[in-house]
Amino acid sequence: LKNLNYSVPEEQGAGTVIGNIGRDARLQPGLPPAERGGGGRSKSGSYRVLENSAPHLLDVDADSGLLYTKQRIDRESLCRHNAKCQLSLEVFANDKEICMIKVEIQDINDNAPSFSSDQIEMDISENAAPGTRFPLTSAHDPDAGENGLRTYLLTRDDHGLFGLDVKSRGDGTKFPELVIQKALDREQQNHHTLVLTALDGGEPPRSATVQINVKVIDSNDNSPVFEAPSYLVELPENAPLGTVVIDLNATDADEGPNGEVLYSFSSYVPDRVRELFSIDPKTGLIRVKGNLDYEENGMLEIDVQARDLGPNPIPAHCKVTVKLIDRNDNAPSIGFVSVRQGALSEAAPPGTVIALVRVTDRDSGKNGQLQCRVLGGGGTGGGGGLGGPGGSVPFKLEENYDNFYTVVTDRPLDRETQDEYNVTIVARDGGSPPLNSTKSFAIKILDHHHHHH
Ligand SMILES: *[C@@H]1O[C@H](CO)[C@@H](O)[C@H](O)[C@H]1NC(C)=O
Ligand SMILES: *[C@@H]1O[C@H](CO)[C@@H](O)[C@H](O)[C@H]1NC(C)=O
Ligand SMILES: *[C@@H]1O[C@H](CO)[C@@H](O)[C@H](O)[C@H]1NC(C)=O
Ligand SMILES: *[C@@H]1O[C@H](CO)[C@@H](O)[C@H](O)[C@H]1NC(C)=O
Repeated sequence: LKNLNYSVPEEQGAGTVIGNIGRDARLQPGLPPAERGGGGRSKSGSYRVLENSAPHLLDVDADSGLLYTKQRIDRESLCRHNAKCQLSLEVFANDKEICMIKVEIQDINDNAPSFSSDQIEMDISENAAPGTRFPLTSAHDPDAGENGLRTYLLTRDDHGLFGLDVKSRGDGTKFPELVIQKALDREQQNHHTLVLTALDGGEPPRSATVQINVKVIDSNDNSPVFEAPSYLVELPENAPLGTVVIDLNATDADEGPNGEVLYSFSSYVPDRVRELFSIDPKTGLIRVKGNLDYEENGMLEIDVQARDLGPNPIPAHCKVTVKLIDRNDNAPSIGFVSVRQGALSEAAPPGTVIALVRVTDRDSGKNGQLQCRVLGGGGTGGGGGLGGPGGSVPFKLEENYDNFYTVVTDRPLDRETQDEYNVTIVARDGGSPPLNSTKSFAIKILDHHHHHH
């Protein structure tokens, strides 16, 4: 088994050669490892793709073993915002070696940030105290990592009335907040124009700007106040619909409509969060509205605003971070990467590989920790007492790497004793209770004398 890692920048033309599998795996049929020369290319080259995560984008030439692009690859349409964008292939080379190939699609700074509009209108009460914050709309940049959105800048106004604070969400995305630095005086100036610039981290950086028109308005109103600026709530994943997340309370000192508080999600709360949670505008009660899946996102942030019904309200903001607790909701998944074709000679020595198996579990921690074995077989895997050399089936599992196992023979075979086996792989995770999966294949044993080399 060979691991080959490659990388290729996005937006390259069709036919771009990414690597030479024959050379890079140093494949030379029949030679023991010590005699394999550097850069050797197999003469009887034959490369069969067993699995390809993106057959429309990548292929391997069956004769030359060259790995190449089939069309231009746009990283953003393939992987959205994911920091890592990786394709994988499994190639069976010269009928003897499996190459696990990973191709990292590198980001280039092909997108500039953008704002959804070129003007933002804001009404701010002249009573807004220094330190009051107003969330601004975020810019969007489809590029990932360094080339994604890096920071925001605000042009300084003449009197230093406004400042900018760039905050990070738990997932690393940034959002800007306008912060009042000094008391606003409507009689002196009732309108301010600011320019917000979003910069990405490319070399050179790309940018976008939006104009902010601030209207200073008259107000004689108290604002609502949350008891705390942020809360942390832990919830089990798959919590039933309607489960209460938190009951927020913002209080307002005013009487009548000026003191009546309305709760809502802040304007920049992502759509996915709105699908998962609901908020009662009157009571501030947040409930679960969709299926919370730890494997999709283990940490969610809900930004809530509270404003009163008086004229020219100043909203208060509060952040609720929901941490999901993983539950053992995924059974292990067993996949046969390759199974020996045809039959196995009874002369096959112990250690002969008959299959390559991949076992995965979407859960994390103990819930995703796997123990695997051949049912009735010997060898490793901690199969709850059923393992140990000399099981009833002459096969065992050997761990290769990263959830890959090979099924190998663990003693000489004898066709006269048994000429066909049903090999069953069992995988069990470490959750409580544990979940398990099984998968089987059949293999025939051939008489040595009828088998020619
Ligand atoms: C290839 O990448 C994988 C992770 O994607 C890593 O585990 C492995 O060590 C790398 N192999 C080599 C030869 O660099
Ligand atoms: C809000 O008030 C209700 C009723 O008094 C209380 O049960 C709840 O715990 C409060 N919420 C917070 C976040 O303190
Ligand atoms: C192999 O054994 C498993 C487990 O005992 C069983 O579920 C499966 O049907 C068998 N397959 C064949 C082909 O006999
Ligand atoms: C698999 O789990 C079931 C219960 O879900 C249990 O009855 C069975 O014994 C387990 N099988 C193995 C091989 O652990």
